[in-house]
Amino acid sequence: MTRRKLVSLARQHGTPLFVVDHRQLRRNLVQFRRWLPFVQPYYAVKANSLPEIVRTFYRAGASFDVASWAEFQLVYENIRDLPEKERQDFIWDKVIYANPIKDRETLCALDPYKPLVTYDNYEEIRKIRRYAPHAGLMLRLRVPNTGAMVELSSKFGCEPGEAVRLIEAAHDAGLTVEGLSFHVGSQTTNFQNYVQALHIAAGVLREARSRGFKKMIQLDIGGGFPAPYDANVRPLRELGRLLRTEIPRLFPKDIFVLAEPGRYLVATACTLVAEVIGKAVRDGKVCYYINDGVYHTLSGIVFDHMKYKVRAFKHGPTSLCAVFGPTCDALDTISLAEELPDLKLGDLVYVENIGAYSIASSTHFNGFPPAKVVHLYADEDPTPP
Ligand SMILES: Cc1ncc(COP(=O)(O)O)c(C=O)c1O
Repeated sequence: MTRRKLVSLARQHGTPLFVVDHRQLRRNLVQFRRWLPFVQPYYAVKANSLPEIVRTFYRAGASFDVASWAEFQLVYENIRDLPEKERQDFIWDKVIYANPIKDRETLCALDPYKPLVTYDNYEEIRKIRRYAPHAGLMLRLRVPNTGAMVELSSKFGCEPGEAVRLIEAAHDAGLTVEGLSFHVGSQTTNFQNYVQALHIAAGVLREARSRGFKKMIQLDIGGGFPAPYDANVRPLRELGRLLRTEIPRLFPKDIFVLAEPGRYLVATACTLVAEVIGKAVRDGKVCYYINDGVYHTLSGIVFDHMKYKVRAFKHGPTSLCAVFGPTCDALDTISLAEELPDLKLGDLVYVENIGAYSIASSTHFNGFPPAKVVHLYADEDPTPP
């Protein structure tokens, strides 16, 4: 998206403005399929749950990973038009409830749809047996998350040594385990995580099948696919090559492989435009205050361990400065060391590649609402405000 276009959108709609480029969303999905042609992508809605994004991926043929009843309903809204039988097929084939911990109410609500759900412990088996006995199960394994930007293995996943016992326990409870899942950590550039996870999963599957669990036909390789935030990020092409070699080598031919990409599909498709609303000099350093921050679209600084680069539209010699968000909290610090030209109140700044784990966790803290969203479907086609 050109800088000129961003400025014109900000003039038209005001700031802070979150611009979603749906062409880029579709391109990202095409790239994912290109490098991982044997993997069905289930978009992880948590990365960005704007309904328009869900709709674009639905139309492009993606499946969905949901983490809550609300996300399930969001996906369900998009398939309302389908005849009942197709709707049920869609949920069976194209939706996974991939949060290993589910409350009773959610399980009761999900049960009539007979969904695929993940689990990783005995308490969850008891709950699923009682409240969602028609669900299909995927056992989430604990795998190395070494070097991932966001580590997940301390929270979820059973130890590989316990996996077959958990499969047997689910079976004894009258449930069907359909496969295995793992997550190597978000923004994983250490591709060895995937290799090790595949080895672990292949070992568990081999043992489970040898004990008669022949219905285990699905392998969910999770998310973690790195978004190309900068030129140092190893490209998906490289990971695709590795997975294309390892998966057929380690798994039987009848295995169905799915993945839950979130960040990779949305990160590069969104840009934030904000405005300088304050300026002060503190300890000799210029401090800019902009009208979006850590409690809003830039929440990824806290929750996603992201370092965003704030850029100016203006040219000129730059100097070291600090950039803060609009709230009264000192945590609302975007950067203490940004290089920006001399900015005046009312000047615009922008942050690229901010589609993932950003507006999804925006709050109303201090009474500031989340950024306004504008959707671009084609060059001259912004959604009306
Ligand atoms: C279960 C699960 N699946 C998929 C994702 C998406 O991962 P990513 O955005 O790294 O692709 C996450 C992210 O936390 C997750 O917890």
